[in-house]
Amino acid sequence: MEDKLKNLAVQVKKQLQQVATLDQLNQLRVQYLGKKGELTAILRGMGNLLAEERPKIGTLANEIRSELENLINERTKTLKTVAKELQIARETIDVTLPGKSFLIGNKHPLTKIQQEIETVFLGLGFNIAEGPEIESDYYNFEALNLPKDHPARDMQDTFFINTEVLLRTHTSPVQVRTMEKTAPSLPVKIICPGKVYRRDDDATHSPMFTQIEGLAIDQQITFSDLKGILSIFARQIFGEKTKTRFRPSYFPFTEPSAEVDISCVMCKSAGCRVCSHTGWLEILGAGMVHPKVLAMSGYNPEEVSGFAFGMGIERIAMLKYGIDDLRLFYDNDLRFLAQF
Ligand code: PHE
Repeated sequence: MEDKLKNLAVQVKKQLQQVATLDQLNQLRVQYLGKKGELTAILRGMGNLLAEERPKIGTLANEIRSELENLINERTKTLKTVAKELQIARETIDVTLPGKSFLIGNKHPLTKIQQEIETVFLGLGFNIAEGPEIESDYYNFEALNLPKDHPARDMQDTFFINTEVLLRTHTSPVQVRTMEKTAPSLPVKIICPGKVYRRDDDATHSPMFTQIEGLAIDQQITFSDLKGILSIFARQIFGEKTKTRFRPSYFPFTEPSAEVDISCVMCKSAGCRVCSHTGWLEILGAGMVHPKVLAMSGYNPEEVSGFAFGMGIERIAMLKYGIDDLRLFYDNDLRFLAQF
């Protein structure tokens, strides 16, 4: 038995010399020192020994076990160090490699333009107001002087949810909602950005688009205030040389009403395809708030007056950036979006 143990020790030491990987070393540990290993098997035979021999063999076996364990542990350490050194040697770090760049998002062009327009009007003393996109027939039409049978309702193809509820076709209902809340205090100076919905779909019309409404009510507001404010707006958004032109128009909620044009930003009024060779581009609708609208919202048209205007943000963005298809705004194509 003593010989068997000593031979085993010699054998293990020899094999240890040849072990090259941590895997092999582990196998060796299992083969000799494991529960079903050879040393354990030898020790099982201790029962057959004479009683006086047992302590001696026992001590020897323990010594051999711990010696082998120490040897294996040491070898594990060396192999680990070698493996790490190898890895470091192979891993050459090239400090001149460019770093990993990560994509930084940017604002959607419509958000950008909306914020630019907001900045202009905030600078002119306006506040920002908002209203619901699902609106009642009353706020979207009736309170804006468009009773149920009014033919001008045809100007705005509407998504009705039921006979009284609809997706707002313009931001003008926010005029009414604001006046109802503030009346009779003065002045009222707000702009209302937001989404609006109409049953239209082609290169220049989308079933959902964005508008900015403006409303100013005070004691002596005149049409010249409207002209002044909108000229400042046009110059700040499209450049100092931009001219504005007011053409008579019709909206049931303003009287008088106007369509507002700016001098063509593409050809500088020389005449081009974008302005249909007129030198002018239509950008918004406006007018003096109709006395009936003022009265329905709680203001006395004998004492106060006001102006209102409404513009499509998509249209402003298309003109400012020279975009010819409205649908590009909603496609979410990064090649388009990354340009702004
Ligand atoms: N709400 C009108 C539209 O969407 C625009 C407008 C707003 C006109 C305010 C006059 C005054 O066409």
